[in-house]
Amino acid sequence: MIDQLEMIVPDDWHVHLRDGETLNQVIPNTVKTFRRAVVMPNLRIPIATMAAARAYRNRILSACPSRTRFTPLMTAYLTDDISTEELKRGFQEGVFTAAKLYPANATTNSAAGVTDVKHIHSALVAMERIGMPLLIHGEVTDISVDVFDREAVFIERLLKPLRQRYPDLRMVLEHITTEQAVDFVGSADQNLAATITPHHLHINRNAMFAGGLLSDFYCLPVAKREQHRLALRRAATSGDRRFFLGTDSAPHVRSAKETSCGCAGIFNAPYALESYALAFDQEGKLDRLEAFASLHGPAFYGLPVNEERIILQRDKQLVPDLVNGFVPFHAGETLPWRLQPRV
Ligand code: DOR
Ligand code: ZN
Repeated sequence: MIDQLEMIVPDDWHVHLRDGETLNQVIPNTVKTFRRAVVMPNLRIPIATMAAARAYRNRILSACPSRTRFTPLMTAYLTDDISTEELKRGFQEGVFTAAKLYPANATTNSAAGVTDVKHIHSALVAMERIGMPLLIHGEVTDISVDVFDREAVFIERLLKPLRQRYPDLRMVLEHITTEQAVDFVGSADQNLAATITPHHLHINRNAMFAGGLLSDFYCLPVAKREQHRLALRRAATSGDRRFFLGTDSAPHVRSAKETSCGCAGIFNAPYALESYALAFDQEGKLDRLEAFASLHGPAFYGLPVNEERIILQRDKQLVPDLVNGFVPFHAGETLPWRLQPRV
């Protein structure tokens, strides 16, 4: 049995850091584990310009604990009227690492998202040409489609046509939740990759209804049946470089979760790597954690691999009910791994 795992410090290729006081409260949880993070742009006022992205990046850096080495990688929020020029310049000047496609009204703060991909045609053509990745929230918003089918239907209705129309566009299907997504990404070329969250490796849809309505396990895309969780575990631990780490850590204050219309999102940043380590260990694939967490992401984004190393120790720790007022994923559970914080 391995008792200590030393690995290259990982990156989080999908995280929600929020803004203002929440940003201050949650950022230490990300930087203690991750060297870089792709920061989602779905603030109340979406990050859709270079100026907004630069200002947000500065707020993130100011909120980091002192002496932290942490690089936020900013994303542009695609809207129907996004400026192609702004996207192009933002990517070329290193302000934007990628652009995020939220189908309008698919999730938190997505009202300004894209109502029809035909509106962003010129942006997608430009992104394809300059090698700017498109990050995709892959769910249809058609309310006649069952909520548990929205990812699978998105792949058929939107992703397949997008791949045909823009074959050289680099795309990441974010936070995949279904075996359809695993199969589609696994059989695609190297221009398509996917992130996998820790929570989707641990819970299936029953978690939301275990003894009552448990909003702490409600996120989007919503967790699916057990067969899908198992497919995600196979993909994450497969060694296939198209699958990599993206926590989708998405904090919401308790009053926004525990209400008649609760927000989607799981705050997993505090124990993210311990959570992935548990899943990989349960699959007998701890030796593949480093590639998933620290190598596949940089390879897809064409970025250097981190130099620092990090140590996970097999050492039990009880996850508290709250971390800075937010309910962490695994609250109340004892995790068998403990990370030696990098800062
Ligand atoms: O559960 C989620 N929370 N899924 C998303 O797509 C957005 C996120 C958020 O921002 O709260
Ligand atoms: Zn997200």
